[in-house]
Amino acid sequence: MSSKQKLYIETLGCAMNVRDSEHIVAELSAEYALTEDRSDADLIIINTCSVREKPVKKLFSEIGKFKKQKKEGARIGVCGCTASHLGKEIIKRAPAVDFVLGARNVSKIAQAVKERGFVQTDINHDETTYQFSDSYQNSPYKAMVNISIGCDKQCSFCIVPSTRGEEISIPEDMIKKEIEKSVAKGAKEVMLLGQNVNNYGRRFSGEHRKIDFTGLLQSISEVEGLERIRFASPHPLHMDDAFIEEFANNPKICKSMHMPLQSGSTEILRQMKRGYSKEWFLNRVAKLKALVPEVTIGTDIIVGFPGESEADFAHTIDVMRRVEFDQVFSFKYSPRPNTPAQHYKEQVDDDTASKRLERLQALAKEILDKRMAQAVGSTEAVYFDELRPEGRVAGRTDNNRLVLVQGSEELLGNTRKVKITQSHRMSLDGEIVE
Ligand code: SAH
Ligand code: F3S
Repeated sequence: MSSKQKLYIETLGCAMNVRDSEHIVAELSAEYALTEDRSDADLIIINTCSVREKPVKKLFSEIGKFKKQKKEGARIGVCGCTASHLGKEIIKRAPAVDFVLGARNVSKIAQAVKERGFVQTDINHDETTYQFSDSYQNSPYKAMVNISIGCDKQCSFCIVPSTRGEEISIPEDMIKKEIEKSVAKGAKEVMLLGQNVNNYGRRFSGEHRKIDFTGLLQSISEVEGLERIRFASPHPLHMDDAFIEEFANNPKICKSMHMPLQSGSTEILRQMKRGYSKEWFLNRVAKLKALVPEVTIGTDIIVGFPGESEADFAHTIDVMRRVEFDQVFSFKYSPRPNTPAQHYKEQVDDDTASKRLERLQALAKEILDKRMAQAVGSTEAVYFDELRPEGRVAGRTDNNRLVLVQGSEELLGNTRKVKITQSHRMSLDGEIVE
């Protein structure tokens, strides 16, 4: 019996990369089976991120490690955003690498593994109509589905538009078909993915029904058997009333919203080219909370953007206190190639940025502890999707809090009512009540 070769895949970065890795696994599944042991792999793929400098540095140290550990004859491929941005540079710097495939070229993976020295990083082509021959999901209970690729926004700090190209929406019928396929296999939850999901429908590759993100959400809700819809990430600028009302009134849409703030200072937001002000952001949060009191809100914040003064940072802290985010991804500004902000004068020194980041993270933890403690005593619908050690099972509330209960396999893929008994910073403990 001829057995399949083994594939080890390491994924850095955002949910889009996680989904691209699933596509890669699916495309190679006829010839490769996944392994978690890199020293046993015939093919090692690193799916990279380039949004900050740190993950780029990590790539080269990872390649170094793999070079030593890999078994004889094993090949190494680099995919994702750093592949797009450095291209054949990567093979020059690390000759152990056999192929380089950009973030917008995932569909070429089967060809890439066959041709030594293969480099493809084109961002000016349309991958939206590409049908993957097979499908693969990290979790059978949850599907991730791309609804758009690329980003048209050009935020002045962000490298993504130059690694993933211009924004193209995937046709509604293709999205629905993919969701239906996953639902038929048992997934009751879908995560819709795009850099800028609520800008959906601005540009399709061919002739398609004119539909915006709100329309797409309505259309997807019709899929029978689908119980939960999540999406990442919406842009605060495009959070119009119709969108917030659909979010509030559609029972299938989970009540957690990611609202990447980046900065609370209107002047810094202008320099970042985000297109909204502090007041607009707070106004959207107020509308959201008024319509959905149980909503949890997550955000991304950059500290130390060029020109950020103490007064600007105080606005960010002010928004943090007013909104009380449930999840904060915070970063020190990192100057990136192909972005205007790297040339801005008044770069903030590293020590100042580190101190601001520390203050921000301390406040985020304080708020989170308070918010999680408030959940104790409530009864929540929890969708279970993962076995944990010591006879526990993990799931998520509708508003995306992690809940652990005592239980076994039969909970997986099911939603049960859970009484929350205790809170920790990152999770809640509970007991099933029905
Ligand atoms: N629109 C995307 C953003 C992708 S980048 C989304 O919302 O999914 C993810 C986050 O990385 C950004 O929201 C931003 O907070 C952070 N980021 C991007 N470029 C950065 C840079 N140059 N320095 C520090 N953080 C950055
Ligand atoms: Fe980047 Fe702004 Fe798009 S953060 S991904 S350019 S919305």
